[in-house]
Amino acid sequence: MNPDALARAESLIATIPDFPEPGILFRDISPLLADPAALRTIAMAMAEPFVGSFDVVAGVEARGFLLAGAIAIASGTGLAPIRKAGKLPRPAGSVSYDLEYGSATIEMTDDLSSGARVLLVDDVLATGGTLRAGQQLLEQLGFSLAGTSVLMELTALEGRSVCGPVHSVFTV
Ligand code: PRP
Repeated sequence: MNPDALARAESLIATIPDFPEPGILFRDISPLLADPAALRTIAMAMAEPFVGSFDVVAGVEARGFLLAGAIAIASGTGLAPIRKAGKLPRPAGSVSYDLEYGSATIEMTDDLSSGARVLLVDDVLATGGTLRAGQQLLEQLGFSLAGTSVLMELTALEGRSVCGPVHSVFTV
């Protein structure tokens, strides 16, 4: 991946203090998503170590959806949404987890073919609870985890100690 293109993409991520709560530094990827070259660069960078080893990209609601769509198109694969509880008419699996601020439950359907190789993606790795829950959900439904990839890892929170090996494009 072109380091200049990656550096430019990273420069487009805005850091917003005290959102959604005091003391939280929110990483806003909206300016990056709005830039065609940067969006393509990060979609390819998130998939790069796993090319050829996954059939489907699963993104965690809500910002993970945006990246999963871009990665799926860039890599010629399918897409599976992992949704917050109560949004799916026929969830096949469900996992609850703690967040950096609050708690949540995620759900997924079993529409993928049995044994599908799934690349799990999200925008940010913070405490690791969300991605660990996503991995457990894929396992619960009998899918194969091809890898876990995030745009940005907040290393101080040591999330990978919770969710295991993760490919992160940017670290802060
Ligand atoms: C944020 C982020 C990740 C998760 C990371 O999502 O988009 O999904 O937190 O945190 P963790 O590593 O501590 O679990 P959030 O739950 O705020 O949902 P949103 O994407 O709908 O805003």
